[in-house]
Amino acid sequence: MCIVNIALIYINNLVNQKALGMSTIETVGVIGAGQMGNGIAHVCALAGYNVLLNDVSQDRIDAAVNVISKNLTRQVSKEVISQQDMDLALERIGSGLPLDRLSEADIVIEAATEKEDIKAQIFRDVTPYLKDSAILATNTSSISITRLASASDRPERFVGVHFMNPVPVMKLVEIIRGLATSQETYDTSAQFVDKLGKTLTNSEDFPAFIVNRILMPMINEAVYTLYEGVGSVESIDTSMKLGANHPMGPLMLADFIGLDTCLSIMQVLHDGLADTKYRPCPLLVKYVEAGWLGRKTNRGFYDYRGENPVPTR
Ligand SMILES: NC(=O)c1ccc[n+]([C@@H]2O[C@H](COP(=O)([O-])OP(=O)(O)OC[C@H]3O[C@@H](n4cnc5c(N)ncnc54)[C@H](O)[C@@H]3O)[C@@H](O)[C@H]2O)c1
Repeated sequence: MCIVNIALIYINNLVNQKALGMSTIETVGVIGAGQMGNGIAHVCALAGYNVLLNDVSQDRIDAAVNVISKNLTRQVSKEVISQQDMDLALERIGSGLPLDRLSEADIVIEAATEKEDIKAQIFRDVTPYLKDSAILATNTSSISITRLASASDRPERFVGVHFMNPVPVMKLVEIIRGLATSQETYDTSAQFVDKLGKTLTNSEDFPAFIVNRILMPMINEAVYTLYEGVGSVESIDTSMKLGANHPMGPLMLADFIGLDTCLSIMQVLHDGLADTKYRPCPLLVKYVEAGWLGRKTNRGFYDYRGENPVPTR
């Protein structure tokens, strides 16, 4: 296809987007470069977006860029992407601490720790630097989008865009509107998710949305099953893998998600729905208090420090 045709298609797309009231996204800011933030940066860079990655320290940002590089290398070796795709993706990722770098972003996705006060503070800190037209999105797993939006200066351009873990592999993204989210913001976000090659579902703004409303009580129940001595870590995970055909047992899945994140989601369900059936298991609380948060700290329901995971009880 000649350059003139490509330019015409590009202009046509822009005109169509304007006609639909959508804004164009070229640069994506990601705040929080943990397991979700690095995954979001990875898929955005591969899809052709410029990415600006931010966290609380340069060390964390550097570690995230390292993980992205390793994960891209794995995709190249599996022939999912080419070496050139990988090189271009890495070139598109800029990183650094000062929040004013995010002034170039058309959408900023917050993927920091699942704590409402941390997220609200991030929105207050970042909004002075954002373009008026920029969309502010959160990857929260459970917290009210409407409430988080009210901590920003742009509730109508605020939206929940909930990626699944690991982001480069999982196909789903839940999109959640807050009370004030505009149709334009929703449409632009949906188009962005589509360009990432993901499938979206729409969820209303209720605690933990769809996936975690269903998944997290199951995980919490698995921890109760362990707590009450119904089964060992191994027997619970084997039972659910072979008896319910789950690809991963619920306790290993909890370690993979992060036990702090699981606990925060259960607390949001318990507080938000005021039903004792969502009471977080005391054993889950104890693991988090011990700092045994799962894979990210090398210990949770399993110990990951050796060659193979070993149950910790
Ligand atoms: N883990 C999962 O399976 C999963 C899945 C979907 C969504 N989420 C959501 O994604 C978000 C991040 O989860 P995660 O698993 O990546 O957690 P994580 O612990 O791996 O990473 C969180 C990152 O946020 C950073 N952070 C904390 N405060 C910050 C601040 N003020 N400014 C910038 N960065 C800050 C931390 O330094 C850390 O690098 C949470 O809201 C979580 O609920 C998690």
